Amino acid sequence: MRIVVLVSGTGSNLQAVIDAVDSGSLPLEIAAVGADRHHTLGVERSAAAGLETFVVNFKDYAQRSDWDAALLSAVAAHQPDYVVSSGFMRIVAPTFIDAFSGRYINTHPALLPAFPGAHGVRDALAYGVKVTGCTVHYADAGVDTGPIIAQTPVAVLPGDTEESLHERIKIAERELLLEVLGSLAGA
Ligand code: GRF
Repeated sequence: MRIVVLVSGTGSNLQAVIDAVDSGSLPLEIAAVGADRHHTLGVERSAAAGLETFVVNFKDYAQRSDWDAALLSAVAAHQPDYVVSSGFMRIVAPTFIDAFSGRYINTHPALLPAFPGAHGVRDALAYGVKVTGCTVHYADAGVDTGPIIAQTPVAVLPGDTEESLHERIKIAERELLLEVLGSLAGA
C-alpha cells in the first residue's frame, strides 16, 4: 500500500507514521509527503528521513482552481492507494475527492461531528465539554465531514489550555492514525 501524506505544519503525526514504517510495524510505503506552503517542519523532517517531498504553494496560484489542479496532479503522480491529510489545513476541490474517492483520509483533533474546522481544540475547550478526542475519517469536500472510520475520546482536565489539551489529543491521534493505516494495509 502506497500513501501520500499532506501536511501544513509540524507533521508530528506524520513522524509517528514515518517511525512506524521504519521500525517495520506499519507495512506500507510513504510514496511522498506534500505541503501547501514552503518551509514546513513536516516536509523538512520527511526530506531528512529520505522521503520524496513536494510543495504546491497555495500563494503561488492566482486562481484557486489552478492550485486545485496542481495539487491533484502532484499527488496523482505518486499513484497512491491512500492520501492522508495529517494537519493539512486546506479543503480540497471536488475533483480531488472524485480522484481519490474513498481513499482520502483526514485526522481531526475533536470528536466529529462536534467542533469541525481549524480550531477544534479551542472550540471544545471554550464550549466546556468534559470529553473531546480525535477522529480519523474519509474526507469529502466539506470541512471535516465524511464517513467516520475511528475515534478516541480524551478527557478535558481542570486547568487545561488549548496547548496542553492538543498535546494529549495528538498522542491519541497518532495511535489512532497508525491503527487505521495498519488495518487498511491489512496488518
Ligand atoms: C493535528 O491535531 C491535526 O488533527 C490538526 O493539526 C494537528 C497537526 O499536527 N489538524 P502535526 O502537524 O501532525 O504536528
